Amino acid sequence: MPIRYLDEQRLFLLETDRTAYVIYLAEHGQLLHLYWGEKLVFPADYPGPPLNHAHSAFNTWGNDMAAEFPVPYNVQEIETCLRLRFADGTRDLRLKYSEHIIDGDNLAITLKDEFYGFTLRLVYRVYPECDILTRRAEIINSGQEIIRLDEVLSGSVPLPYDRGDFRLSHLSGTHVTEFQLDREPVKPGRKVLEGRQNYTGHAHNPFFALDLVDSQGGATETGGEVWFGGLQWSGNWKIVVEQTRSPLKRTRVAAGINDWDFEWQLWPGQTFETPWMTLGYTSAGFGQVTRNLHRYQLAHILPQDKAADLRPVLYNSWEAVLFNVNETTQMALAEKAARCGVELFVVDDGWFGAREHDRAGLGDWTVNPQRFPRGLQPLIDHVNRLGMQFGLWVEPEMVNPDSDLYRAHPDWAYHYPNRVPTEARNQLILNLGRLDVQEYLFGVLDGILSKYNIDYIKWDYNRAISEAGGAQIPAGNQREHWVRHYQGLYRLVDRLRERHPQVIFENCSGGGGRVDMGMLSHFDQSWTSDNTDPLDRLAIQQGYSLVYPVKTMFCWVTDMNQNAAPYSLRYRFLSSFMGGLGIGSNLNHFSDGQIQEAAYWVAEYKRLRPVIQHGELYRLLPLNAETEQQDSFAVGYVAPDKSQAVVIALDRRSHHWRNPRRLRLPGLDPAAHYRLAGDVADREPQVLSGQAIQARGILPKLEGELAAALITLTRES
Ligand code: DGJ
Repeated sequence: MPIRYLDEQRLFLLETDRTAYVIYLAEHGQLLHLYWGEKLVFPADYPGPPLNHAHSAFNTWGNDMAAEFPVPYNVQEIETCLRLRFADGTRDLRLKYSEHIIDGDNLAITLKDEFYGFTLRLVYRVYPECDILTRRAEIINSGQEIIRLDEVLSGSVPLPYDRGDFRLSHLSGTHVTEFQLDREPVKPGRKVLEGRQNYTGHAHNPFFALDLVDSQGGATETGGEVWFGGLQWSGNWKIVVEQTRSPLKRTRVAAGINDWDFEWQLWPGQTFETPWMTLGYTSAGFGQVTRNLHRYQLAHILPQDKAADLRPVLYNSWEAVLFNVNETTQMALAEKAARCGVELFVVDDGWFGAREHDRAGLGDWTVNPQRFPRGLQPLIDHVNRLGMQFGLWVEPEMVNPDSDLYRAHPDWAYHYPNRVPTEARNQLILNLGRLDVQEYLFGVLDGILSKYNIDYIKWDYNRAISEAGGAQIPAGNQREHWVRHYQGLYRLVDRLRERHPQVIFENCSGGGGRVDMGMLSHFDQSWTSDNTDPLDRLAIQQGYSLVYPVKTMFCWVTDMNQNAAPYSLRYRFLSSFMGGLGIGSNLNHFSDGQIQEAAYWVAEYKRLRPVIQHGELYRLLPLNAETEQQDSFAVGYVAPDKSQAVVIALDRRSHHWRNPRRLRLPGLDPAAHYRLAGDVADREPQVLSGQAIQARGILPKLEGELAAALITLTRES
C-alpha cells in the first residue's frame, strides 16, 4: 500500500518504490513535515516529531519551519502557502486536522479553521514506479462571506536540515537561448524563480533540483542525492528556495501560482484548486532525476491518447520562407519534403487573413485568398497524395489591431480603458478568461479542423503581456485574469482535442517560452527554440530534456548557422536526432545529392526512433559550467527492454588534436552482449557486454571538422 496512516505514531506515510514522504499529525491538529527521502524498510525508523527550537522572542523556528503547509499564523518568517483576508479583515488562519481519506494512490487531508468557515484540503498522489509524488491544495470557502485570496501556493517542503549544504540547479534563458542549466549554492535568504508575464517564460522554467553537497562535491549524473520538482502550470508561477542561517539552518522549497498581482474572490461554497506541484527524490544523481520525470510525464502528464505514439517527422518552411507561403511554393516544398521521407507537412504563419507580415491579420482565421485562391484543399490533397499528413500553424490567443476581429471586438483584448495598449510584435493578447472569447476561438478552430483533413496544429504564443485589464470585469476581479486565462486555454484545447482526436497539438511560444507540465498535459509536443543552430541547440536541448520527455522536444534541421561553423548535414541531423525530428531547411536550395542524404538520415531516424523517443535518456558527456571547455557532447538512449541503444556524440569545436573520451553508457543488461554498429573508432571491439559498455566505455569515431557520430547497440544474447 503506497499510502498509509499509522494511527499510533500519527504518521501519514506516502511511499513510492524507492522514496518516502512522511507527515506527522501533531497533537494540536497541525500537520508537520517529517521526512522526504530514501524509503526505509521499517516505518518505525522514520524520524519522530521535530523538537521545537524556538529560542527567542524573535523567531519561533522549529515546528513552524516543519509546517506541511505554512500559513500566516503566529510567525510569518518563511514563505507561506496561503495569504487571505476574511470579510472582517482577519488575515491569519488557525487550521486543525478534521479528517482524511486514503483512496489507493491518493490521500486527502482536510483541515478547518477553528473559527471561520474555511476548509483546506491537502491532496497528494503517489506514482510508485516513477518515484514521484504530486500535491496540491484545495481552498474551500465553507462560510457565509466572501474570502479574498492573496496567495495560494501548491505546496512547500522542508529539506533535511542535518545533512549538509544544498546546490540549486534550474533552467534559465532568453528567447533563442532557452533552458540553460544554472547551478548555484543555496545560501541564507530567498531565491525566487518565477514567471509573471502571463506565460511560463523564456527567462525561467518551473523546475528545481536541490542536490546535497558534501566534501566530495555535489551530485553527478550517476550518483548523489537530489530533491527535485516542478509545477503543472503555465500562467504566472513562482518557486521559492529559502534558507535560514546556521545554527538553525533550514532549507525549504515552495511552488505555486505567483502571488504577484494575484487576487481571487472566493465566494461561499466555492473551491479554488491550485495546480499540482511535482516532487521527487533520488540518490542516483541527475540522470535519474531526468528518467523519473520522463517516466512520470509519459505515463501521467502527456495526453494519454497519443502518449505512446511515435511522433512523425515533420517539415515546416518557417525558417526557409517566413511569411511567403502560397499554394505554389508550399506544393513545391511538399514534393521535396516527401522525397526526404517527411511524414507531416506543416504550413506555418502567413496562410490566413491579411497576414502577409506580422503587422496584420492575427485573429482572422480564414484562408488568405491571394495566397491560396482555391482554399487549402488543393494543397492538402497534394500533401496527402504525397503520403504525408497536413498540419497548420495558429496563434489563437493573439490579435493584431489591424484585423477584422479587433475592429469588431476591441474589448476582447486585455487593456485598461484609459491607456493606449502596448503592442509587442504588433499584437495584443485576447482575454481567454472570457467565455465569449473561448466560444469564438472554439468555433473558428473547430470550423477549420472540421472542414479540412488536418492532423497537427502548431499553437503559438508570441508576446509577454501588458495592461492586464479587461472590459466587463469588475475592478475587484481583474487580478484573477492570470489564472482565468489558463483555465480558459486548457479548457479550449481539451474541447478541441475531444472533437478532433486525430490532431497532434504542438505547443510553441516564440520557441520554448511556454514549456511546462501544464502545457504538456494538454499538448503532445513542443517547439523547443527559434535558435536552430545545431551547436547552440545542444545546451538548449540538454536543458529541455533534463526535465521534459525527449519525444515532446522538437528539433529541426535548418540552414541556420550562428557560429560560422562548418556544419555538415550529418552534424545537423544528429544534433536534431535528440528529440522529435523536423526539417526546416529551404529544400528548394538542396541539390539532388543533399535531398538523398537527407532521405538517408530521415530513414535512419525512423529506424532508431522507437529507442530515442521511448528509451531512457543518459547524458554521457553533459554540458555544464564545469565542462564548458569540453570538446564533445554525447547522449545515449536505452530501449525500455534493454535490447537496443543509440549513442550520439558531437564535437563542440573544430580542432586538430582531440582528446577522445570513451562513452560509458549505463542502463544496459550487464550480462548481455551487444553488437556495436556505426561510428565506432577503428580497432574497437564490435561486441561488448553491457557491463563492459558501462565500465570500460566505447570510443566513438569523431574525425574531421565538427564531427558527429552515431552508434547503435543491439543485444545479441
Ligand atoms: C514563433 C515560432 O517560434 C516560429 O517557429 C514561427 O512559428 C513564428 N512564431 C511564426 O510567427
